[in-house]
Amino acid sequence: MRTSAVLSLVGLATAAFASDVVDLTGTTFPDFAAQDLTLIEFFAPWCGHCKALAPHYEEAATILKKDKIPIAKVDCTVESDLCSSQGVNGYPTLKVFRKGVPAEYGGTRKTDGIVSYMKKQALPAVSDVTAENHDEFKTADKVVLVAYVDESDSKTQKTFRDFADQYRDDYLFGLSTDAAAIAAANVKPPAVVMYKTFDEGRNELEGKISSDSLLTFAKEHSVPLLDEISPDNFATYAEAGIPLAYIFVPANDPKREEIVKAIEPVAREHKGKINFVWIDSNKFADHAKSLNLQEPTWPAFAIQNIQAMTKFPLDQSKTVDFATVSSFVKDFANGKIQPSIKSQKTPAVQDEPVYVLVADEFEKVVAEDKDLLVEFYAPWCGHCKKLKPTWDTLGERYSNAKSKITVAKFDATENDIPSSAGFRVAGFPTIKFKAAGSSEWISYEGDRSLESFVEFLEANATNDINSPDDEEAELEGESEVKSGRHDEL
Ligand SMILES: *[C@@H]1O[C@H](CO)[C@@H](O)[C@H](O)[C@H]1NC(C)=O
Repeated sequence: MRTSAVLSLVGLATAAFASDVVDLTGTTFPDFAAQDLTLIEFFAPWCGHCKALAPHYEEAATILKKDKIPIAKVDCTVESDLCSSQGVNGYPTLKVFRKGVPAEYGGTRKTDGIVSYMKKQALPAVSDVTAENHDEFKTADKVVLVAYVDESDSKTQKTFRDFADQYRDDYLFGLSTDAAAIAAANVKPPAVVMYKTFDEGRNELEGKISSDSLLTFAKEHSVPLLDEISPDNFATYAEAGIPLAYIFVPANDPKREEIVKAIEPVAREHKGKINFVWIDSNKFADHAKSLNLQEPTWPAFAIQNIQAMTKFPLDQSKTVDFATVSSFVKDFANGKIQPSIKSQKTPAVQDEPVYVLVADEFEKVVAEDKDLLVEFYAPWCGHCKKLKPTWDTLGERYSNAKSKITVAKFDATENDIPSSAGFRVAGFPTIKFKAAGSSEWISYEGDRSLESFVEFLEANATNDINSPDDEEAELEGESEVKSGRHDEL
C-alpha cells in the first residue's frame, strides 16, 4: 500500500515539478561523469524494468541531492553511440562513476537501496569514529561494523581497512582508536562490534582479528535470524554461501507469525550454517514450484543449496511445526537427505522419433558410450514447437544407429537437470552435445536447420554415426541366407 501511494505521488510530482534526475547527452556526459561520485542509468523508454525503476530513481535523486550526489540518466534509443561506448547491453544498466571511472552498481532498484548504496559510496570505506560521533555512527545503517583498536596496533587497523575496502558495498565500517569510544563500547581492543537494527542488536568479535575471522563474523551476524525474503534482499542470502531454508506461508495467513515464531529456535540452532527466511507463498508460488513444492499446500518448508543448485523440499503431507522442521533440518545438516530431483516417469517404451530423456535416466544415458545431442525445451516455448519437425527428422535420420548416437529431448519444466551435469539452462530451446567417451558438454550455437545439425554431428561425433547398427549382424544374416540357399542347392 505504501509503495503504491509513493508511486502515484511521485507520478504527480514528476508531472508537475522538475526532476532531480539529470538527462545526459553525448555532449554533457563526460563532464557529468567526471565529478567525484555520480550514479548514471542507461535506459530505453520501452523497457519495463526501467519504468518500474523510474519512480524510485526519481525519489532517490531528490534525497541524494541533499548529500550532493548527482544522479543522471541516458536514453539509449537517442544516445546510442554513447551507450555502446559505455558497453551497455541491457536495460536498465546502472553505473557508479568516480571521476569518470565506471564501476558496476551493486545495490537494489528501490529508493532505500539506491540511497543507502550511494551514501556508502560517498563515505571513505572506513569512517573515523570518536567518542563524539560514536552513538550516531552505531545507528547509521542496518548493519554497522566498528573496530576498536589501539593507536599503536597498525597491523589490525590495516587488516580491518583492507577488509572494508573489499566489502564496502555490504556493510558500513568505522574504526576507533579513541579511548573514550572504546570505553563506551565496553570492549578490550582489538575488538570488532557489529551494531544492527534487528535481533540481538549487537555482536562482538574479540581477540586476534584476521580477514577470515572478520568474514565469518560478518556473514554469521549480519543476516536476521528469520526475516521475510523478497527480491530486495535475495542477493544477501544468495551471496552468503550457505544453504537457505524457506518457510512458504501466505503473507495474509492469520497464523503466519505463530508458524514462523515456532521455527525460530531451529534457525537459532543452525545460525551461521543455514539461513532461515519466510516467503509469501501467494506471491512467490513459482519459486516454491522451482524447489519442487506443490501448490497450494501451505505452509510448506524447503531448503535450497544455492551454490550446489540442489533443493530439499519437506514432504508436504507433514505439518510445518517445530518438531518436524527441527528433525528435517538436523538430517539435512548431517547429510542424510538426498536432494530432490524432479522427474517425469521413465517412458516404458521409446516410441517417438527422438529419445524422451527424463531426469531419472539422465545420468545413465549420459554414461553410455554414445554421442548425445539433447534439446532442453519447454512445452510452451514457440521456438521449441518450431524446431520439433526438424528435431524429429534428425532423430529418424539416426534411428538405425541407436547404438552410436542418441538424439533426445528433455522437458526442462517437468525435469530437473541433475547437478552432476554441471550446467543449468537459462532459455529454451537449449541444445547441448556430448561426444561419446567425453564428459564435456558443448553448447550447440548454430542455426536450427537439419543441415546444420547434421554437419555439426558429423564434425563432432566420436562414433561412426553414419554406419547403421548391427551392420555386421546384417552381413552375417545375409551370409546365412546365402548359405541357406547354398544348402538348398
Ligand atoms: C563442432 O563443435 C564445435 C564446438 O566445440 C563448433 O564450434 C563447431 O562449429 C562444430 N563443427 C561443426 C561443423 O558444426
